[in-house]
Amino acid sequence: MLEQTALDGDFAKRHLVNPVLLRMLGDLTRQRVLDASCGNGYLSRILAGRDATVVGVEPGQLLFDFAVEQETIAPRGIQYVQADLCDLPDLGGPFNAVIASMVLPAIPTWTGAMRACVHALKPGGLFLFTVNHPCYEQLWPTWREHGGYRTHRYLTEYEIPGPSGVDFHRTLSTYLNQVTSLGCQLTELAEPGLDPDAAIEAPTAIDAYVHLPNFLIVAARRTT
Ligand SMILES: C[S@@+](CC[C@H](N)C(=O)[O-])C[C@H]1O[C@@H](n2cnc3c(N)ncnc32)[C@H](O)[C@@H]1O
Repeated sequence: MLEQTALDGDFAKRHLVNPVLLRMLGDLTRQRVLDASCGNGYLSRILAGRDATVVGVEPGQLLFDFAVEQETIAPRGIQYVQADLCDLPDLGGPFNAVIASMVLPAIPTWTGAMRACVHALKPGGLFLFTVNHPCYEQLWPTWREHGGYRTHRYLTEYEIPGPSGVDFHRTLSTYLNQVTSLGCQLTELAEPGLDPDAAIEAPTAIDAYVHLPNFLIVAARRTT
């Protein structure tokens, strides 16, 4: 599984997340970028390939070891640090951009993690985070079962068991109000839909992703 997603993530990341993140980041030449909870390091490697100076933080041993191994096999100048986002060591100075992709829903103490991401930025730096869209959580499973999206609760936080651990549902306003309370100004929200042509290539018919957004992608700038 780590190998399968090592190049550019899974189908959904390839088609829905990566293109938006890369567009929002723009030219990365000589930019210091933090991939906060980098997982297997796929995004770190894409960013380094665009001439960014990348630090990837990851606490999980297997994921960290895999990312380091990829750097040993094909060095790209990426520095990997094994750490918890809520307890970051000195990472060598502030960043032009910090990305936390699909990370905050996995962390129970997520406000500390978000604060650490924002504090790691230079003033004016760009903070990007992605989450499963809070309004359409578990989009594909409910679409498959009901032929449409269904939910019966939204307003309270609840746990979503997944193959690699528990995620936490939180509301849209919870995430957006927290990032603005940390001194960031929202610059863009993206709710990408799948190009119907790409849906044809999908391993299963992912028509839900054509009609409803599976992800929310948030761009914010640190103002102070
Ligand atoms: C769904 S994965 C996303 C990984 C990667 N950003 C990606 O898009 O493939 C969630 C990540 O959050 C990490 N994580 C969970 N709790 C964390 C914490 N307290 N601090 C830092 N990372 C954490 C996990 O180890 C995992 O790499």
